[in-house]
Amino acid sequence: MSSLDMDALAVHLLRGTQEAALACRPWVGRGDSDKADAAAVAAMREAFDTLPGRGTVVIGEGEKDEAPMLYIGESVGDGDGPAFDLAVDPLENTSACARAAEGAIAVVAAAPEGGLWGSPASWYMDKVVVGPAAVGAVEIDRPVEENLDSVAKALGKPVSELTTVVLDKPRHEDLIERIYAAGASIVLIPEGDVFGALRVMLPDTRADALFGVGGAPEGVITAAFVRLLGGDMQASLAPQSDEEREKLADAGQEPGRPLQLDDLVSNAECCFVATSVTAGQILRGPTRTEAGWRTQSFVSTPTQRRLVVEAVHLGRDLSETPQGD
Ligand code: FBP
Repeated sequence: MSSLDMDALAVHLLRGTQEAALACRPWVGRGDSDKADAAAVAAMREAFDTLPGRGTVVIGEGEKDEAPMLYIGESVGDGDGPAFDLAVDPLENTSACARAAEGAIAVVAAAPEGGLWGSPASWYMDKVVVGPAAVGAVEIDRPVEENLDSVAKALGKPVSELTTVVLDKPRHEDLIERIYAAGASIVLIPEGDVFGALRVMLPDTRADALFGVGGAPEGVITAAFVRLLGGDMQASLAPQSDEEREKLADAGQEPGRPLQLDDLVSNAECCFVATSVTAGQILRGPTRTEAGWRTQSFVSTPTQRRLVVEAVHLGRDLSETPQGD
């Protein structure tokens, strides 16, 4: 790639998410999210060695001190070609993988260098996501009732017909009560706000908005497909511990300051790739066939905005019982 070709990059990234998903497979339903995550990270990291170009992880597994691979600032790729940013989550929704529940994915987003928001100091973000018909209708620092009113007006239906998506977490008790009191319904998801937000962006999954605090890497990854699929998103840093508050203060970052979609992903030339680790609303989980393992992935690039890619990894034989560490 001489200049950054998002379709070509997405194909290479797809190999990374597929390999991560297949590496997790032996750990599905075995109650050990750490080992599943470690397997996913190692497999994605190895696949990224051969990425053409000069990639930098701008938000991912954490700081170098606590993450051996795919840490913030790590360079990936063969070093030959254009520079690009990566936001990675080799296993998003680790507990769904450990419990063999719905919605675990291996996921990555990319944009030309400087195109993705990244910070080692930020772990959590407050997020609001809406689809194309409600662009401009939400503001992160406005009461949820006002955002619901304005989304309902944009969509031409009453608030009582709005469906929202919210992570089912104790920190959202008040948010959940207020959405119910305003009359909207909620799809409460235990984990996994990347695909929670994707439900807002796809016509068949019938959700109108996502609200609430989730991971910061997940927020940047979400922003990539929101841009590609023509929706809107705002976020603000929402530290959940004193340690995170201190890190933000040291980094000179201000909790609560609104981040627009352009701040999170500055370039519409970006891409998003996710492969399912377990089945979910959007993708079927990996299945074993006689020929090898079959995976499903969702890919979005500027030229292919909504592509489900099914692949058969010929001859691939995964041991169902994980061996050692
Ligand atoms: P993991 O992949 O780290 O398990 O994240 C799952 C997830 O639900 C994300 O989708 C979400 O953004 C984040 O956790 C919320 O964090 P927490 O579980 O700490 O509330």
